[in-house]
Parts: sequence; structure tokens; C-alpha cells
Amino acid sequence: MDLDAKKRNFVELLLERNILIEPDFLEKLNEEKDPAKISEIINVKLRGQKTEAEENSKETAEKATLYSKDESKDGKVKVLFSYSSQPKKNTAQDFINLFNYRYNSIKKILQQRVQLESVISISKLKMKSQKDQASVIGMVYGKEETKNGVMLTIEDPTGTIKVFFSKNKQELFMRAGDIVMDEVIGISGSLGKNIIFANDLFFPEIPVTKEAKKSPIEEYAVVAPDWHVGSKQFLEDELLKFINWLNGSAGNEKQREVASKVKYLFLAGDLVDGISNHPTQRKDLSLFTFKEQYKKASEYVKMIREDIKIIICPGNHDIVHLAEPQPPLPKEYCPDLYDLPNVILVSNPAVVNIGETENFPGFDVLIYHGYSYNYYADKIESIRIKKPTVSDRVDLVMRLLLQKRHLAPTYDANPHLITEQDHMIIDRIPDIFISGDVHKSGVFLYKNVITGIIGSCFQSKTDFQEKVGHTPDPGRIPLINLKTREVKILNFASQEEKQ
Ligand SMILES: [Fe+2]
Repeated sequence: MDLDAKKRNFVELLLERNILIEPDFLEKLNEEKDPAKISEIINVKLRGQKTEAEENSKETAEKATLYSKDESKDGKVKVLFSYSSQPKKNTAQDFINLFNYRYNSIKKILQQRVQLESVISISKLKMKSQKDQASVIGMVYGKEETKNGVMLTIEDPTGTIKVFFSKNKQELFMRAGDIVMDEVIGISGSLGKNIIFANDLFFPEIPVTKEAKKSPIEEYAVVAPDWHVGSKQFLEDELLKFINWLNGSAGNEKQREVASKVKYLFLAGDLVDGISNHPTQRKDLSLFTFKEQYKKASEYVKMIREDIKIIICPGNHDIVHLAEPQPPLPKEYCPDLYDLPNVILVSNPAVVNIGETENFPGFDVLIYHGYSYNYYADKIESIRIKKPTVSDRVDLVMRLLLQKRHLAPTYDANPHLITEQDHMIIDRIPDIFISGDVHKSGVFLYKNVITGIIGSCFQSKTDFQEKVGHTPDPGRIPLINLKTREVKILNFASQEEKQ
């Protein structure tokens, strides 16, 4: 291809993508004859590095420089947990080991409570007399509603026992409704014959501690999962609008000022649409292989300002196995992402620390795409009755799972990878808890210390989502000010999508 054709193709690409083309830029491109320099101009434009200075008044441009001098050192990210082992063939013993690991880890958390300091093992209950008081910690093995209450079977490494929650103790009975299979709980009660009549119930919970951490500098993080590149419903215009804003090429002065302080971008799963997630997916695709989908997705990621750290985890539509934890996206399918110095590929779930300074420890951010949420949104009555659709209930599910200190306690909720340790346990209490999956944004504050953020998507509603009762709301991007912990939802949806 000759140089002029290359230039023409590039300009067409920019127009197609709604990227602003300034006369100065065209002039510069036309005058340049050196192929290497032309490539450099093209790359700079695609990555939006000069757009702010080109587009804004001198004053605004000077201000932007000032921010970069004062505060906008590149964002700092430390990966605290990311799972990357290869799956192996499992034995029955591996399965038992995983559940023992879960039992022992959650038991340790529960025993930090005074009421559970002197728990005894289930096998020792028979040495006590009926009507004696006892406390145990067990994993839920069975749960059924009876006429008069809820009957559980719980187990520990020494045995099993029934636990009964009577409807006569209304408040306790209601809390027992939130108990799920395979989670580890504490019980206090009086003994009957091979049964405990519960008079208290303990979930591991998040301890009530101090105030929420706040960064000494004003910088921002944005949460934008579920791009679904490769789907016919992928909203390219809306994504480009978002990228242009990040790069300082869109919005009013105030909005650009905020954009210049964005230092972290979380792409929490489903970067691409995948190829066989549901039986009718093929008819919804515009790109039919993972390689094509990731290549295209990488082009968009490349356009984003280099000083923004981009943290990417996989979701259920990505190339990696569905069983969780899912490893980071593999280099074989997205080599371009691995070449970008500001991209950090992590597992699902993962924990990263962002924004550390000399005098500030930074925020621990738990990222989980959220595949297990559908199960709890549907099965837990106290959640189901509160809001009409699964997409609206996710904040309640995230609260429930924080209380259980586990991202997917029930074996049936999602496919589990049998690993030596249970990586779905929330062992480190996060400052920020980020998810996606339901394609509708949401924000909540838990126990005054954890900011929960659910990202939206860049995909319009699919027939499949219609069928499973999801109500997506694309293009709404949560933005958190790390200095104030205030979260705003920015709207990049087109008029059509807003209706
Ligand atoms: Fe998704």
C-alpha cells in the first residue's frame, strides 16, 4: 500500500470510529513523508495522547499539564492475588481437601467472635446432656423448610448434626432463610436428642471497624466490564465515546479535568462475547473466532491513555475455562494486551492494591466478574422479593456474600475448579469490591467500609438476556473519586439506548 493510500485508510478508520479529526492534524499527516513518522503520528492519534492539547484552548491544555506535574504520576497497582495454575486431574481426596480448607479458614474467622471462642466439635456433643447449651461451627450439608421452621444438617470433620430454627423465634428464623448450602456458619443453642435447637446464628461477616479509607490525592478509578466485542449488539460508538472522554477529547472542561485524573480502569470480565456461551449465540456474532474478537478488543484498549492502569480479569464469556477461579486471559489469544505496559491481566477473582503513596497504604480491590450472583439472586427469598429482576438484585447478593466471606459458597451456584486452597473465600477484607456480569451499574456501601461497584456494559440487550430476565442498562460507567469515596455514574449511552 502506498503512503497516500495508508493515510486515506487511516482517516477513514478515524471517521468510522467517530474520533475527532482536526485540520492541524490532517495537515501534519499530509506533509509527512517518512513512513516511520507517519506510523508514529497514527499511533499517537489512535491512543489519543495528544487530543487534549490539540482540541482544547491553550489555557485548558496548560492546566492539564499542571495536573500531570502535580498529581498524575502513573497509577500504582500491586497484584495481591491472581490465580494462574493449570487445572489438573482431580481425585475425590482433592475435593475433600478443598472443603476442609474452606471449613478451617472460615472457622478461624468465626472464632474471632467471643460467642464462638469455645465451640466444640460435633462428635463431642454426645458427651453433653440434653438441654445443655452448646456452640458448634459447621458446613451446611442439608436445608429444608418444615411446617414449624427450618431444619439444617451441618457437618464438621468429626460428624453431622441436625439444627432446628423455630418459627417462634421470628427474627432468627428470618435470618436462617439466608443460609445457603455448603457455607460455614456458627450455631449456638440447646441440645436435644441428636439435634440443636438454635438460639443464635453467626455468619463470618465483615467486622465493624473504622471509617472508610480515603486517598490523600484526588484520583479516580472507573469500572467498565462487559464490552462483549464480537457481538452484533456490541456498542462501539458508546465505547469510543467513553475512550474519548478518558483521553480528554470529550466533555466540558470540568469533565476533562476529572478524566485527566482517572488513573485506574477495571475491565472486570467479558471483554469479548465468546463463541459458544449459549445455543443461539452464533447468530448474534459479528466476529466468529476468539482470536478476531480479542484482536479487535485490544485495538480499543490500545487507544486508552498510557498513564491509566488497565486491570483486566476474565468473565464467563472469555476464552478461559468457566470453572472458577479463572486464570488470566492467555497470551496466545491476546498477545497485543500483553505488549501494553499499562495493562495488568489478572484472574477472576483477583485482589489488587491501587493508589498507594508514601503515607497511604492504598485500596485493596476485590474483583469478581459475578457468575455466581444469578443463583443467589434467584434462590434467596429475602433478596428475590425485594427487587423485580436479577440485574437489580446484585448489590443485595454482593452484600450477602460479603457476610458469608465467600464469593460462591454453594457448589451448584457456579462451576468450581478443584484447587488446593479455596480461592473464592474473601479472606482479605477489601476496601472496594468490583463486579460486572449483569450489565447494569450499581453502587452500595457495606458496613461503612466497603464500596461495592457493579459495572454496566457496552452491549445492547440480547435475545438470550431477554429470556433469562436480565435488564441491561448499557454505557453507564461508575467513576469513584478515591479522595472522597464518592461514586458517580457517567452516561455514555446513545439517545436510542437511553430509551
Ligand atoms: Fe457480560
